[in-house]
Formats: sequence, C-alpha cells, structure tokens
Amino acid sequence: MWKPPEKIKFETAVTTWPNAERAAASLLFSPLSHGAMHLSSRSWVPAMVPWRATEDGYVTQHNVDWYARFAAGRPGAVVVEATGIRDVPSGPLLRIGHDRFIDGLKRLTSAVREASGGQTRLYIQLIDFLSIRRRPEPAKFFERFLHITDRHRQALGLTDEAQIRATLAGLPAERLRAVLAPREIEDLEFGFRERVTDTHLPHIAELPAVLPGLFADAARRARAAGFDGVELHYAHAYTMASFLSRTNTRTDGYGGDLANRLKLPLEVYRAVRQAVGDDVAVGCRYLADECIDGGNTLEEAPQIGTAFAQAGMDFISLSRGGKFDDAKQPRVGESAYPYTGRSGFECMPGAISDSFGPFGRNVEPCGLVHDAIRAAGYQTPIVAVGGMHAFDQAEAVLQQGKADIVGFARQALADPDWFAKVRSGHGAAVRLCQYSNYCEGLDQKHKTVTCQLWDREELNAPGVAKTADGKRRTLAPRWTPT
Ligand SMILES: Cc1cc2nc3c(=O)[nH]c(=O)nc-3n(C[C@H](O)[C@H](O)[C@H](O)COP(=O)(O)O)c2cc1C
Ligand code: SF4
Repeated sequence: MWKPPEKIKFETAVTTWPNAERAAASLLFSPLSHGAMHLSSRSWVPAMVPWRATEDGYVTQHNVDWYARFAAGRPGAVVVEATGIRDVPSGPLLRIGHDRFIDGLKRLTSAVREASGGQTRLYIQLIDFLSIRRRPEPAKFFERFLHITDRHRQALGLTDEAQIRATLAGLPAERLRAVLAPREIEDLEFGFRERVTDTHLPHIAELPAVLPGLFADAARRARAAGFDGVELHYAHAYTMASFLSRTNTRTDGYGGDLANRLKLPLEVYRAVRQAVGDDVAVGCRYLADECIDGGNTLEEAPQIGTAFAQAGMDFISLSRGGKFDDAKQPRVGESAYPYTGRSGFECMPGAISDSFGPFGRNVEPCGLVHDAIRAAGYQTPIVAVGGMHAFDQAEAVLQQGKADIVGFARQALADPDWFAKVRSGHGAAVRLCQYSNYCEGLDQKHKTVTCQLWDREELNAPGVAKTADGKRRTLAPRWTPT
C-alpha cells in the first residue's frame, strides 16, 4: 500500500461514548426514509469483498455467516460485496449473472432478516469489470502476447515475425521503450488491462448497448432473491467509473464532456429502475474524487450527484480513489491491484498518513455534493464513508449536514457489534479498528478476509468456523451485553 511522504502515525482512541439515552436521541440512530429506501438508522456497512464465494461465484455458508454477523449488530443497511453481473468465471467473487444464482442469494437475504430481527436492510452492489491479465514473463510476452505491427517492423528493419520477436526479447529496456508503443510497454510491465476507450475491440465498443440490459437483469434477480435494494457500482477501477471518468475519451457519444460521460450511467440506472420498479431501492456508489492525474475531481462530483438525484436514485454513496491508473507495478505472475497507489490510499487510508489523517477524508467532498443536490431541490440521501469509527465523529457528519448516512466499512469488520454496543450505551466495549489494512492485504491476495483484532482469538473454542488452513477464525467473536 502506498504511504504519503509525511508518514505520520495515527491511533484510534475514543474517550467519549454516548449513554443509551443520548444514542436514542441521536441522528445516527434515527430512521430515514427516501423513495424506496427505509432505514431503521442512518448507519451503513459499505460493500466489502470477503472472498468467501465458491470458485463459480455461488453463495457459501461462510458468506451467509459473514452477512448474518454484520446484521446481528443491526446497522441500518448492509451492502453485499461487489457481485458480478455477467455469467463469466471470476473466481470466488459472488455472481448474479444468471438465474441459477438466485437461490443462493436468497440465503443471504433471509439470514440478514433473521439476524437483525428485520432491522437491517440488505442491498447488493452490482459490478461490471473489464479484463485484466497478470504481468507476463518478458520471454512469454515477446514470444506469444505481443501483436507484431508495422511500428516494430520499421523500427527494427525486419519483416520476419519470429526474428522480430527474438530481437525484441533481447533489446535493453531503454531501446525497447523507443520501439514499443506506450500501451505495449504497459502490457509488458503491468499486464494487459482493457479500458473503456479500447473501442477497436468490438466487445468494448458495444458496452453502451449491452450494459443497461446486464445491470437490469442482475437487478431483477436481486429483487427475486429478496434484496431491499441494489447499489450500482460506479466507483473505483471498474467499468462504470471508467465511463464517468474525465479520462474517458470515447468519441461515440459516451465519452468526452461530462454530459456524454453521464449518459451510460444514467441509461443503466433507468434500465434498472424499469426492471425492479419503485419499491426496490436503487442507488449508486461513485467517486467524489478519483485522486489521479487527469481524473474527476471535486469540480464534477456535485454535477454528477445532482444528475443522479434528478434521475431519481434513492441514495448516493460516495467513495474516493481506488484506481488502476496509479497502481503499483505488480510482480511477474501477479495482477495490478487498484488500491496500491495514492488513489488506493485515499480509498482505504491506513494509520500511517499525511497530516490530514486517515479519518473522514471524504467528509468535506460529501458536503459539497450534498449541498449541490439540496440546492437543486432534491432530498437524495448521501452516504459518507472513510475512517469512520467514533460516535461523535459520525454524529457530527450528520449534524453538520455533510451527509445523511454514515458508512463504517473496516470499523464494522473490526467490530460488527459497533452499532449494538453504541446504541445500548456500551461504546466503551467497542473494538476499534486500527486502520492497519491487514484485511485489505488479504483482499489483495484474494484470501478470506478477516480482522487481525480477532481472527486468532479463541481459535479452538467449540463451534468456531475457521479458514481452510485452520489458522484464522472467520467471524468476530460474539458479544454478550453485561
Ligand atoms: C476488504 C475490503 C473489501 C472491499 N470491497 C469493496 C467492494 O466490494 N466494493 C466497494 O465499493 N468498496 C469496497 N471496499 C471499500 C470499502 O467499502 C470502503 O469504501 C473503504 O474501506 C473505506 O471505508 P472505511 O474507512 O470505513 O473502511 C472494500 C474495503 C475492504 C477493506
Ligand atoms: S484488519 Fe481489522 S483493525 Fe486492521 S484495518 Fe482491517 S478491520 Fe481495521
């Protein structure tokens, strides 16, 4: 994970927690209704991929237990991890690209309903992503992957393909930079990665034609599985965020100026709304700031939010960063991971930070989007996420009108009972996230995500579910109020 040059170490320590009366009177624990979204409190667990699905994308008992564990704390809403809308293999990531996935997903909705006594709404994050390959062995790249073009022929003065490949493989790095196109260098050094601007590839050119239908079908399945809502993943490094990005230079009417970049996200939203009707919550997650050179900034974030509010979304969740554009170079045989550069730090800031610190970096940007949406006459609720762990901190965000709902991702992973403890006046018993990003390291390796604060605790107690190697428990220990 990238660390800012200042490297200031922050520690989470909370000295004041509310008693039960104060919690009951707070905005955080007050209900919120807007459109099809009806929350018992303004607390939210954002999407977190735990790598617990089967290799074929089906729900496992580990998935069911993971979501039931969050629901036992009774936050207002839990968003199920990014779930693939296509019927294509994608490793142990949940999938919703075919009706055969519905039965498994139903297990999640009923488990959450039961564990929360009906108090927690369950939404599912719908994702589309483009193809990415591992960084190749240079020899293999020149032997097989590189497509030989006139540029190479001319630069080397050779015509025989085998000879060109062999010559390229033997060139020193500096000379190679002069012969290969910038994109080919990237393919060699980072691994091939598709972009929405690769419109010479027919399946990329046709994305605007196919994505509304794919998202709508996935949302219809989410409804059939009993989800209360869907969150369209328009954030981070994935297809829809790439359409929204200032880096999208498509010339087919879906790139260039902001109005064109908004076109597909709005078409997807309309198709989804039509598929699920008005009684399923439909919202999205997008980036208040892409935090990359040449990307979207706070300049367009309020305009994007207003366009989504005007279209009729039931909620808008704001994240930041998390892009491939500034990701660290992966090792040979590994894929680039979009949370390794500065934008990754902005998305999941760790305890070692710049002077601003890891807490609430997205609050002011949320406030700007919130203000713009209200000024335009819409009441669409905004979810603020990032470094939230204390009651006073969350309550201040709501009281100051920066957002309407507060999301706790890693804090909920560190202690899924945060909500129950704070609501009942037991805040002092909260296990505070240390922002170590141990969990994020597991995510990067596609390993079962757990928290280092509890995953070795009472490992051999009866009934404790463990990872396949038996070394970590998969769920936070139960909390019984004293
Ligand atoms: C293990 C892990 C998996 C994540 N998976 C997703 C995801 O599937 N979709 C998403 O939008 N964000 C994902 N995130 C980002 C979080 O939702 C959240 O935006 C981020 O962790 C910052 O919030 P926090 O400081 O409360 O943790 C993930 C974060 C973690 C730690
Ligand atoms: S491993 Fe636990 S303590 Fe560390 S960042 Fe993740 S949730 Fe927080």
